[in-house]
Amino acid sequence: MHVPRRRRRLAVTGVAVAALAATGLTFASANQALAEEGCEVDYNVTSSWGSGFQANVVVTADEPINGWEIKWNFPSGTTISSAWNVDWSQSGTAFTGGDVGWNASISSGQSREIFGFIGSGSSTAPGTFTINGDVCNGPSQPPTTDEPTDPGNPGGGDKVDNPYSGSQVYVNPQWSERAAAEPGGDAVADQPTGVWLDRTSAIYGNDSPTTGSMGLEDHLDEAVAQGADVIQIVIYNLPGRDCAALASNGELAAGEIDEYKNDYIDPIVEIQGLAKYADLKIVNVIEIDSLPNLVTNVSPRETATANCDTMKNNGNYVDGVSYAVAELGALANTYNYIDAGHHGWIGWADTNAQYDNFNASAALFGSLIGENGMTADDVHGFISNTANYSALEEPYWAVNQNVGGQALNQNPNLPWVDWNDFNNEKDFTEAMREELIDNGFNEDIGMLIDTSRNGWGGDYRPTGTSTSTDPVTFVDESRLDQRFQKGNWCNQAGAGLGERPQADPEPWIDAYVWIKPPGESDGSSELIDNDEGKGFDEMCDPDYQGNIRNGNNPSGARDDMPISGHWSSEQFQELLENAYPPVN
Ligand code: BGC
Repeated sequence: MHVPRRRRRLAVTGVAVAALAATGLTFASANQALAEEGCEVDYNVTSSWGSGFQANVVVTADEPINGWEIKWNFPSGTTISSAWNVDWSQSGTAFTGGDVGWNASISSGQSREIFGFIGSGSSTAPGTFTINGDVCNGPSQPPTTDEPTDPGNPGGGDKVDNPYSGSQVYVNPQWSERAAAEPGGDAVADQPTGVWLDRTSAIYGNDSPTTGSMGLEDHLDEAVAQGADVIQIVIYNLPGRDCAALASNGELAAGEIDEYKNDYIDPIVEIQGLAKYADLKIVNVIEIDSLPNLVTNVSPRETATANCDTMKNNGNYVDGVSYAVAELGALANTYNYIDAGHHGWIGWADTNAQYDNFNASAALFGSLIGENGMTADDVHGFISNTANYSALEEPYWAVNQNVGGQALNQNPNLPWVDWNDFNNEKDFTEAMREELIDNGFNEDIGMLIDTSRNGWGGDYRPTGTSTSTDPVTFVDESRLDQRFQKGNWCNQAGAGLGERPQADPEPWIDAYVWIKPPGESDGSSELIDNDEGKGFDEMCDPDYQGNIRNGNNPSGARDDMPISGHWSSEQFQELLENAYPPVN
């Protein structure tokens, strides 16, 4: 996976993130807020030119409003240059507007244009509006007695809030067999792992060392036979796949979007929709390493790659992902979780668009709503850290802690943190979830975290907080994550299995999952000819000294590794050895 990050930020962001964290809604209160809603905001762009636009805001109220304060988050980089009939302010992407007296009231049932403004940047409407603190995104909800019994059910069908709760999850017999054949592997061989449909032939079973002889229908049949409630399928075949790296380039060229839709997604939808699978909850993990690349690895950033520029300009990641989500989401038994990178990739929030990965990624995800008929209801949640190594938590230090007279995340000489707003996946997913809701996703979305290889146990694992007052030494002695740099993504030496898969570990997390099957390579250590379209990426070469996307650090990769998806006994055994929690 790719390490697509900018090099160094120039502005501080601790405040923004503290504010996000402070908003943490529980699922119950979020649903309640939605059910009580009774107003609608129309954000009308009346004209646009170059990077400027004019818009007005119309509110329709179900209950009388006497005095209003409206808030939203603009797409990143968008600012207001002038506004009328409103007392307004903007801080970063957050806009707040208050009435100016004479326009304070909106009577019940009235639609009133409350103010207008000139903006510059993106004219895309914000996803969520609040008025006087309440979300105001649509007309009244039906009376609660008419609501589906499970308030977390977005589609109104039989979908449950958290498919993992109380569920038995499918064990892929092909992975299980490989794991069990390794010394000590029995201890984890019955864990559920993701089934990767990493090219079209994998749908039908292609006898390859990566996906093996079982096709999608074989896996689903086997899941039914196991009595499993949930199966985890990875949708991973976008045109121009993995544009910032080479190790997992795929079979479809940048322009082959029709092939993606017709030959890949459509057959998957048909199979998942077969009546015999109606009682199975099918989790689809959607397209790892795609959309965030369009934020972090495109021009004019220094981290840009030609392939990511191509995929941004041709629109095929957006087209493909929204198509997949819409088509799969329409089935009654599917649960879509879109890949949302990890904190070491998009954990930088910033008011300066050039350095903002966090808000911009959430805004990009939000912009998919409406594409190819995709709705917010088609999205059950998001997944972080897929096939990556970012730690679940860093118990011995906080990212904004003051060491040596300065907050760690504002220290210009601390490469490990490098101004990132997070140092772990738990905090990142909690804040990202809020940001996604602000960008139009449902308030009951849940997060998954891939904990297959982020354990960082073993000899080097610290057991307490460093006493050093030197920030670099302090962080190095306190951190669990032992990588040279968080941009390192390929076959990290020293990594261990992380938390075992489990449901409901935190209120905002649906499950810890093992989507990357431990023991399967991220990419070959040297060029190996293959017929899977996989390239050779220097980030998988242990001798490589890095590039701008990993801050020019050593790759940290293991040696002697096969091409991505192929089995490595050595890596599996190291993961077992360095597991945390340890494997007994
Ligand atoms: C590879 C896929 C493989 C998956 C799971 C990816 O990096 O490109 O071929 O199925 O990892 O191991």
